[in-house]
Parts: sequence; C-alpha cells; structure tokens
Amino acid sequence: MVLAKAYASASSLPNGDCGRSRARPGGNRVTVVLGAQWGNEGKGKVVDLLVQDAHIMCRCQGGNNAGHTVVVDSVKYDFHLLLSGIINPNVTAFIGNGMVIHLPGLFEEAEKNVQKGKGLDVHTVFYFHQAADGIQEQLRQEQAGKYLGTTKKGNWTSLFFQNLVSDFDGFSERVIYERTKPMVRDGVYFLSEALHGPPKKLLVEGANAALLDIDFGTYPFVTSSNCTVGGVCTGLDMPPQKVVEVYGVVKAYTARVGIGAFPTEQDNEIGKLLHSRGREFGVTTGRKRRCGWLDLILLKYAHMINGFTALALTKLDILDMFMEIKVGVAYKLDGEIIPHIPANQEVLNKVQYKTLPGWNTDISNLQIPVKLIGVGKSREPMIQLF
Ligand code: GTP
Repeated sequence: MVLAKAYASASSLPNGDCGRSRARPGGNRVTVVLGAQWGNEGKGKVVDLLVQDAHIMCRCQGGNNAGHTVVVDSVKYDFHLLLSGIINPNVTAFIGNGMVIHLPGLFEEAEKNVQKGKGLDVHTVFYFHQAADGIQEQLRQEQAGKYLGTTKKGNWTSLFFQNLVSDFDGFSERVIYERTKPMVRDGVYFLSEALHGPPKKLLVEGANAALLDIDFGTYPFVTSSNCTVGGVCTGLDMPPQKVVEVYGVVKAYTARVGIGAFPTEQDNEIGKLLHSRGREFGVTTGRKRRCGWLDLILLKYAHMINGFTALALTKLDILDMFMEIKVGVAYKLDGEIIPHIPANQEVLNKVQYKTLPGWNTDISNLQIPVKLIGVGKSREPMIQLF
C-alpha cells in the first residue's frame, strides 16, 4: 500500500504536464554525458549546458568519490552526490540504484549549495533499492561500539531504502530519515513513466570516467562501478535503445589522480605547467593530479566502449601558453606500432607522439563531431558547434 502511494506521487513530476500532452511515439529519449579519460574532464559544465532544457536528470553510478564543479554567475558550486543539474530549478533529479550514497553527507551538500545559490531548490528522488553504506557503518558503530573500517564512500554492502517503505516506523527510530521518505520512489516505475509519458528530455550525468571503469579501465587502479555506457542501463533500469546521444567529455590534455598506467604522462616541466594552469587537484580528496598530453589511443578505446555520438572538448585554454602541443597517436612494441592498448601496461609507456604547432589542430579526423569546446571556467566561455 505504501509502495502504491509512493508510485502515485512519482507520477506527478513537478515540471511535468502529465496527462495533457501526448506521449511521443516510441517514448522519450535519453542523452548521456560520460567522461572519456580518467575523470575531471569537466563533465559538470557540459551537463550544466545540456540541462537547460531538460526535465529529468539522473545519476547512475559512483558516490561521493566523484566531484563536479559548476561556475554560474560567478558562484562556484561543488557537487559530489547531488546532481549538478539541480542548478536548473525545472529539473527533477533522480538518483538511481547504481549510486552509493551517504545520506547525512547528501543533506549537508544540499544545504551548503542552497546557501550559495539564491533560489536553488533541491528536487531529488531516490530509487528505493538505494545503497547507503555510510548509514550501515553508523548503525554498526551504534550496535557494536566500533568501526568495521569501511571507507564510507560506498562499497558493496547495502542498506536498502526499501526499509523506508516497508518498515518505516522501526527504521526511523534508528536513523534520521523523515526527510528522505518523501523522496523515495520505485525507480523502475518512475523512469518507465518518464520514458513513456508526455514528452520530456532526460539527461544522465556520468561520474568518474572510461579509464576508471571497473571492467574496462586500467585495472586495478579503477573505481568500483561501471562508468561507461553499460552502467547507465544497469544503474537506472534504462532500456539501452532509449540512449540516443552519448557525449564523451574530453580534456585537451590528460590528467589522472593516484597511481596506475598513464602513457602520456609528463613528469617534467610540461606536466607541472599543465598541473598549475589546469589547477589539477582532486575536488574530493585535494590530491595533486598527474598531467600529460592528450592520448588519442585511449580516447579511441573509450569511444569503442561507449559509442560516443559527440565529443565535448574542454580546457583548451590550458594549452594557450604552449608553443608546441603533442598528441599521443600510437603505442610501439619492439619498434612496431601496435593497433590496440596492450594488456601489459608496461608497454603503455612507449608512446609515439604527433607534435602540433600552436592551435592549427585538425581534430575532425576523430570521426565524431566535436560539439562543445571549453575555453574558460564558467558557462559562457564555451564554443558550441551545433
Ligand atoms: P568527475 O565526475 O570527478 O570526474 O569530474 P568532472 O568531469 O565533473 O569535472 P568538473 O566538472 O569538476 O571539472 C573539473 C574542473 O575543470 C572544474 O574546476 C571546472 O570548473 C574546470 N573546467 C571545466 N571546463 C573548463 C574549461 O573549458 N576551461 C577551464 N579553464 N576550466 C574548466
């Protein structure tokens, strides 16, 4: 009965015109924004642009180990669990089953950003099988008087939000979730209705990136979710044919935080310059990122997995000062060019570069249309090639 109630309220989306407009034949379509490198490509800004005319915005994977930064009207917002699309007041944000969240952290983040942004309202709904590892750790501490030592940034064990619906009285005695209950929905029905109801634009905001994917990334230095396009389907109950646009966000150079393969890394003055100009520090951890040249072999690999329909190229302005710009175009093994990323990551350190003078760079040969070029931090300095 409570479930049915939750479902009924899911049908009255704040910005919808349910029941008035006719559904689009074949249902509504979905645009996805994914990182094409090792994260921090600037997905936040691309999402912020695309969300302007969206109705529903979703996150399907990751937790607060990712961080999106969006600068609007000189106000800098930092999002980790919340969706950066909430800056648009007309959007309903949907946190899918694939995400791992820590509820107190989520509310803290909402409050912090609401204080920064005048009129910022947080319309967020959750899938009811939502994992909440931080809460579980909190409960363990209360019961056993000690930590088990999880990172509290998400792991495989879950406390299901289903408890909120089926045993709310018992559950609410232990935790703080009066605030959460009105937001919990049965995600399968919520999304199905959004996809097959009146015309709506759905946008999915990826976190992390292709080379950090648990299956396709540079294992073992990866994250614990699928941050490639498959994660959209499993992390949201999204039928694959609904995904029609996949934006790959690419930084004009490469950076990665922490250890692991990085073929085009520049452990020298070039790397230092990229680091300082690009302010390459992790949003969540504050760790310094390693920097190097753009790697087209890795980008092609990310495209093979994700099937990008467009690229959004960001942070070109960081290269402004370079007289020469190098781009990794092939890996070599025993003097021979190899046409793929080798399983043996030692080999990844032998890169063949193409050196380009200044900005005379033809990137049309990528065979994917470049639609967005970021040349500054905020919303305005973005070249749109539509
Ligand atoms: P993850 O989800 O953690 O992988 O991060 P992300 O891809 O969402 O990266 P984010 O949006 O946080 O962007 C990283 C940083 O780059 C932020 O400080 C942005 O303001 C900045 N940024 C984005 N695009 C541009 C650009 O075109 N030029 C410059 N200079 N900065 C940019």
